[in-house]
Amino acid sequence: MSPAPRLVVLLLAARIAASQTFTDAGKDFRVIFPENIAYYYPSDAHNKIWVTALHNDTSVTMSSASSETKLNAGHTKSFDVTQELGRLTINDSNDFDPFTVFSISDKTVHITSTKDIVIQAVSSRGRSVQSALVIPTTKLSNKYFIPPVPETEGTTSGGAPVVNVTERAPFRLIIVNPDEPKASVTIKGRDEIPISIESGKAAQIWVDNGNTTQYVEANKRVAVYFSHPCAVQHQCTCGLLHAMVPPAKNDTMKFPIPPVLGKPASILLSDEANGRWINSSSLIVESAGTAIVYWPSLLLTLVPVEEFGSCFVVQFIEGKENILIIVVHKDHKQGIHIGNDPLGGAGWQELEGTDYVSTNRSISSTTVVWHMSANMTVYHMAQHNNTWFGNPAPVVSANPDFRGCILTPEVTMILHEAESWQESIQSCQKQSLNLISLSSEALQKHTCQNLRGNDAKQVWIGTRRRSLTGDWYWLNSNGFNDTNWARSEPGDVSEGQCAVMSLEGDCGWKDRNCCEAARPLCYAAPQVLQIN
Ligand SMILES: *[C@@H]1O[C@H](CO)[C@@H](O)[C@H](O)[C@H]1NC(C)=O
Ligand SMILES: *[C@@H]1O[C@H](CO)[C@@H](O)[C@H](O)[C@H]1NC(C)=O
Ligand SMILES: *[C@@H]1O[C@H](CO)[C@@H](O)[C@H](O)[C@H]1NC(C)=O
Ligand SMILES: *[C@@H]1O[C@H](CO)[C@@H](O)[C@H](O)[C@H]1NC(C)=O
Ligand SMILES: *[C@@H]1O[C@H](CO)[C@@H](O)[C@H](O)[C@H]1NC(C)=O
Ligand SMILES: *[C@@H]1O[C@H](CO)[C@@H](O)[C@H](O)[C@H]1NC(C)=O
Ligand SMILES: *[C@@H]1O[C@H](CO)[C@@H](O)[C@H](O)[C@H]1NC(C)=O
Ligand SMILES: *[C@@H]1O[C@H](CO)[C@@H](O)[C@H](O)[C@H]1NC(C)=O
Ligand SMILES: *[C@@H]1O[C@H](CO)[C@@H](O)[C@H](O)[C@H]1NC(C)=O
Repeated sequence: MSPAPRLVVLLLAARIAASQTFTDAGKDFRVIFPENIAYYYPSDAHNKIWVTALHNDTSVTMSSASSETKLNAGHTKSFDVTQELGRLTINDSNDFDPFTVFSISDKTVHITSTKDIVIQAVSSRGRSVQSALVIPTTKLSNKYFIPPVPETEGTTSGGAPVVNVTERAPFRLIIVNPDEPKASVTIKGRDEIPISIESGKAAQIWVDNGNTTQYVEANKRVAVYFSHPCAVQHQCTCGLLHAMVPPAKNDTMKFPIPPVLGKPASILLSDEANGRWINSSSLIVESAGTAIVYWPSLLLTLVPVEEFGSCFVVQFIEGKENILIIVVHKDHKQGIHIGNDPLGGAGWQELEGTDYVSTNRSISSTTVVWHMSANMTVYHMAQHNNTWFGNPAPVVSANPDFRGCILTPEVTMILHEAESWQESIQSCQKQSLNLISLSSEALQKHTCQNLRGNDAKQVWIGTRRRSLTGDWYWLNSNGFNDTNWARSEPGDVSEGQCAVMSLEGDCGWKDRNCCEAARPLCYAAPQVLQIN
């Protein structure tokens, strides 16, 4: 509908690292802050990067700061950044054209850490606030579908702007090359537009709607954001719009639409087949590319069912009203926890015409949201002076577990060699594991279920009698209260000082002579993230 896309040039930079699981955690991130105009608001933008550490003794380094910051598991810190891609400085000394001082940057902020962290970036200028989930360099992709441009006043080149401000241009794509080498990026689907982006730099391109879907294709991993520096919100005000564009998918995925703000959903969809802005009547849309919810003051990247996770960190943004929105299959409403507390039952809303339900809760501090037995998704929304912003909460795990938010899963292993109880302890230790201590009923049930169908009939477990008193104890020193002895077990001291567990039926225990041979059941507990 409008002329060929205009090119603005901005540059940025980045770096890549390793760590490949299905989460948003990583050790290397490139962060950009889009131009945030809010021309009516006479102060600079405040940019913050919110970092949450998942492990103890994590050192975090930001490129523009000289020192590193130490964080422990579950601790969050915000870093102030004064680096924007576009900065408009109001110069009152010139009455006729007050917006003369405009600088464009291509610089990025580089965050590295010694252990996995999760990151959110928030840009605010007066009421103009937006946030983005920042995904680690290793999880980026080389193909992205460009969202269709919502045609609203002042946001397209054809629209009539409220104020004659040159910088208030159309929607733009921000492409970040996180690391070496230089990236060759091509905007395809219409006229091909080649762009070369240096390592660690960003480029910006104005986009508009044409008759075909456009996509970004690069010769290496890049990050892509969709942004507008000052889209009209209310009469005579405008605010930043900003969202991460999700990587192109190989398969069509289903995106349930959470009922944010109780308003009807307007969705920016684009994939190989087409790109369109729809007012969806269904609360689920399908796409093999991008699906972004749009309201006049908000862009929210949607998460497909296929990428649901079991644990999320929701970072409390100070000075704002923070809420989290949970979307889960209707059969899996039970088992969700916020921190240590089970989610109360009330307030589930059906997403009509789908198998999914949604609820929201306000939070007053950074927290972890996890499911005991299923995957779900969590969005983090916040409100500042009546302006809502939000993004998907970072996924920490896709490994539902009754013990909490799992960072590293448990290991359960039956060794091949049958041997004595004492030798079993050592054999487990050689695998960096322990002969299992089954001190809670939940762990007993879980382990029994896990091992059902195994060809071993009986395995050594980590309990024996004290030689002096004859009392049973666990090798890990936990209390010996929840027991699962088989019928008429244990016998008296003469029948055995150690115990095996049967892998049949209810996995009952029997006392046994420690010198007899059985296969050891070795175990390492999962590592659980707690935020207090
Ligand atoms: C971190 O250290 C604390 C205190 O020493 C400990 O309780 C906690 O389990 C540790 N967390 C992790 C994830 O290692
Ligand atoms: C403001 O504008 C005047 C006139 O154009 C210029 O001389 C002055 O340097 C500008 N001030 C700043 C802070 O850029
Ligand atoms: C919040 O909005 C009110 C009215 O729109 C305005 O007067 C006030 O300055 C705003 N506060 C901030 C922090 O933007
Ligand atoms: C601003 O508006 C005036 C009058 O409509 C026009 O002459 C001028 O070219 C406009 N400036 C820009 C940068 O578009
Ligand atoms: C699509 O738009 C281009 C110009 O942007 C034009 O050359 C082409 O004919 C159009 N194709 C269709 C199918 O309308
Ligand atoms: C899509 O398929 C390509 C080629 O098989 C593969 O390299 C890429 O990782 C896949 N992407 C996703 C998101 O699965
Ligand atoms: C939270 O849920 C309530 C009740 O369902 C709804 O009225 C409200 O709009 C929701 N808040 C947000 C931010 O979506
Ligand atoms: C969606 O609805 C909004 C508000 O009713 C309207 O302004 C917009 O044009 C609609 N978009 C489409 C693609 O129909
Ligand atoms: C949760 O999602 C992960 C990743 O897609 C998958 O491997 C796992 O099986 C899912 N778990 C459940 C209980 O659905």
